[in-house]
Amino acid sequence: METYSIALIPGDGIGQDVTAAAWQVLERVSAQSSFALEATTFPWSCAYYKETGAMMPSDGIATLRGFDAILLGAVGWPAEVPDSVSLHGLLLPIRKAFVQYANIRPHRLMPGVEGPLKARNFDILCIRENTEGEYSGAGGRVHQGTKDEVAVETSIFTRTGVERILRFGFEQARARRGKLASVTKSNAQKYSMVFWDEITEQLAAEYPDVAVISYHIDAMAARMVMAPESLDVVVASNLFGDILTDLGAAIQGGLGFAASANINPDRSAPSMFEPVHGSAPDIAHLGVANPIAAIWSAAMMLEHLGEAAAAERIMAAIAAATSAGIGTVPGRDRTETITAAVLAALD
Ligand code: IPM
Ligand code: MN
Repeated sequence: METYSIALIPGDGIGQDVTAAAWQVLERVSAQSSFALEATTFPWSCAYYKETGAMMPSDGIATLRGFDAILLGAVGWPAEVPDSVSLHGLLLPIRKAFVQYANIRPHRLMPGVEGPLKARNFDILCIRENTEGEYSGAGGRVHQGTKDEVAVETSIFTRTGVERILRFGFEQARARRGKLASVTKSNAQKYSMVFWDEITEQLAAEYPDVAVISYHIDAMAARMVMAPESLDVVVASNLFGDILTDLGAAIQGGLGFAASANINPDRSAPSMFEPVHGSAPDIAHLGVANPIAAIWSAAMMLEHLGEAAAAERIMAAIAAATSAGIGTVPGRDRTETITAAVLAALD
């Protein structure tokens, strides 16, 4: 029997609540399947930082490398640790160190979920560049605290980085409905974004079967609201993808439904799966967080591990719960009620 080793990093706030729910679902589905899952839980979080002075131990990345996949809840507790410290100490280094360059975020309405738009039949796959661009962390501050203070933060776009994420987008579009929207802001940013547009054009020649259109991010934001059905695969830089996927979450009914997969496509290191939402300190441990985004992310993990049938069963179980009106209205149902409905649908 195939056994997959999973590194569980619940992290902070509701990350702990929703990973517990997702793990219950994973255990149930694996018990019904011909594979096993073995979790090792790591307490790396802001609480861990307060105790040790670091978000993870210095050999944290080396430790994680040995796992088949990572399931993460959320990172951040800004009342105790600045977000700029906690995120650059745990989540962002994992994405970079394991070359998880494709952050895949599906946006569609689960049955029974209203969403704020009249549009109902959209199915968007956002592909966000996940290792460089605006998140490169290159910069500095001088003359701190004086009136002459200067802050510089440089986006880094490499041909390798841009080409591989665009190629990944083209491949996804080819496997779906054949449409790729490439998002930049090349009318204002004349170096990096023009570079991105040029590489899009170069690759388009290799994918004559994919219809590619370049959009500026402002126009894309409007399109996702006004005409989301017109979109198939959307590929964007790290920051643009971050922003557009919160918009995507909103149109699919809220952050409680937005799942994500941080994928290392060449499988040279583990990939990481996490809900798009954060740690939500205001509702942490109140038992009201929607676990669907985390459960959906767990399904994406199984799919990546080669267990597509089990992943589909989880998605069907989520759909069964939401069809029955469970988990469809933000804040109405308890975490355990939604989890129980998904578990019941699996049986
Ligand atoms: C996300 C989050 C993170 C990001 C934050 C917490 C650094 O917003 O995964 O979308 O910007 O990547
Ligand atoms: Mn985000």
